[in-house]
Parts: sequence; C-alpha cells; structure tokens
Amino acid sequence: MLIMSKHLRTDEVYVLKIGGSVLTEKGKERKARKSAIKRISEAIALALAHSSRKNLILVHGAGSYGHPQAKVYLESGEVKDALITHESAKELNRMVISSLMEFGPRAMPIHPLSGVVSKGPEIKYKIKEQIELALKAGIIPVLHGDVILDEKEGFRILSGDQLVVYAAKELKASKVGVGTDVDGVLNDNGAVIRRITPPEADKMSIKGSEHVDVTGGMKEKVYLLARLASQHNIPSILFNASKESNVYKFLTDDENLFGTVISV
Ligand SMILES: Nc1ncnc2c1ncn2[C@@H]1O[C@H](COP(=O)(O)OP(=O)(O)OP(=O)(O)O)[C@@H](O)[C@H]1O
Ligand SMILES: [Mg+2]
Repeated sequence: MLIMSKHLRTDEVYVLKIGGSVLTEKGKERKARKSAIKRISEAIALALAHSSRKNLILVHGAGSYGHPQAKVYLESGEVKDALITHESAKELNRMVISSLMEFGPRAMPIHPLSGVVSKGPEIKYKIKEQIELALKAGIIPVLHGDVILDEKEGFRILSGDQLVVYAAKELKASKVGVGTDVDGVLNDNGAVIRRITPPEADKMSIKGSEHVDVTGGMKEKVYLLARLASQHNIPSILFNASKESNVYKFLTDDENLFGTVISV
C-alpha cells in the first residue's frame, strides 16, 4: 500500500515559479542575485533528493533581465529591441540552469520564443510535448518570461505567470507554487492574506509592482491564479522564495509553508 502511494506521488506534476523579484534586482538593469540563484538551486536539488518527486516544471520570471528591456520594445516597436529582450531573458535562464546542474538536477531550457506564438489575444503553445518528454527523461524543463512572435504583427510579452497557468493546466499539476520577494499577498495593513477565493480576488484592489513590470505584477498574478483555481480547480500558493527554506518546504509538502493560498 505504501509502495503504491509512493508510486502515485512520483507521477504528480509540480509547477514552481521563482519570480524575477527573487532572482534579480528589479530596480536595476540586468542585475542578477547570484547568491539567491545558488541557494534556490541547492534547495531544489536537496528537496528532489529527499523526496520521490520527479516531475518538476520550473518557471522563472525575467526580472531585471526582461522587464526594462521589454518596456523599451513596447515603446519603440523595434524588432531589435524585442530580440534584445529575448537574449537578455535567456542569459538569466542560462544562469539558473547552470546553477541547478552544478547541484545535481538535470535541467533544460524551453524558450517561449521558440515554441509559443500569439494571434491577437489567443496564445498558441507548442511546447507540451517538449515538457512531457523532458519530465519523462528525468529533466527539469525550465521556462521563463519572454517575448513571443504574433501572427499578425511584431511581438508580445508572455509572462512567467502565464506560463505557470499554462503548464499547470496542460500537465494537470497537483501543486503550484509561486515565489516572489514578499511573504504572500498583502492587505492594506501589510499583513499576509492567508487565503483568497476567486470571487474575493475579483473584488480586491492590488497594486502591480514597485518596479518596472510590464506584465502586471502582483495584481495580474492573483488574477491569473484565481482563474486557474476557478476554471481548472487547481489551487496555488504564493510564498516568499527569497527564503530558500520555503522552496524546500513547497517541494517536500511541508505544511508549515507560510503564504497565500488561492483556491476555490
Ligand atoms: N498587495 C500586494 N501584496 C504583495 N505584493 C504586492 C502587492 N502589491 C504590489 N506588490 C508588489 O508585487 C511584487 C511582486 O510582483 P512582481 O511582478 O514585481 O515580481 P515577480 O513576479 O517575482 O517578478 P517577475 O515578473 O520578474 O517574475 C512585490 O515585490 C511587491 O512589491
Ligand atoms: Mg511579475
């Protein structure tokens, strides 16, 4: 019986996003927090070694490797600026992957520009098989906020948060964790709201981000995760990933993980 349940757990898919607010200094341009990248990679490696979990999809935000560059593109409309944004986001992605590999886990990039396109508001993801096969091969696919080509004109921005929702619903995730540099969704008094239901999310007034954030910051994050809960019945937890013990707690199902749960 125990062996059976262990086997089932191995098949579960976990989606974890580490925000650009954690991995980079969002107030600057192309400034990585190398120590945070290292500590989080180590926490992921340890958690995977200490549990039977194999199927982890990692998403990271672009932080100061994407938002300021994307802002330049949105203002100029120049192809070159979109491609600079992509190259810059890839640079951060490479740092994350190298760091993970140093600690043991096998990780590979999935760059949205190479596998996702949009047609106006509709986003067409062509990366499901890559994610599935990577998981099957014991590899952590690492996705990131990026620019994507639009079928009609130019590029648009695809956030790490949108990728979390996509991966969670397509791969039928059993657990979704979203780490930022704050302890959860804060109320007007600065206290963490421990649980938000979709109808509550719709009524809340949340600010975006303190920094340049072209994808709507915390406000859009809560909106997207509330849709994931209401439309697909997949709950998520927002927690502080600057505290790397939280990353470990999330991956090892520690009930003491402090944060905001978004669920029906
Ligand atoms: N009500 C709120 N509760 C919590 N954080 C909030 C709230 N309103 C605004 N914020 C801001 O949202 C930020 C987190 O969102 P942000 O999009 O900047 O980070 P991120 O998603 O980790 O980065 P990236 O988009 O690069 O992945 C916090 O640093 C905080 O300053
Ligand atoms: Mg963000």
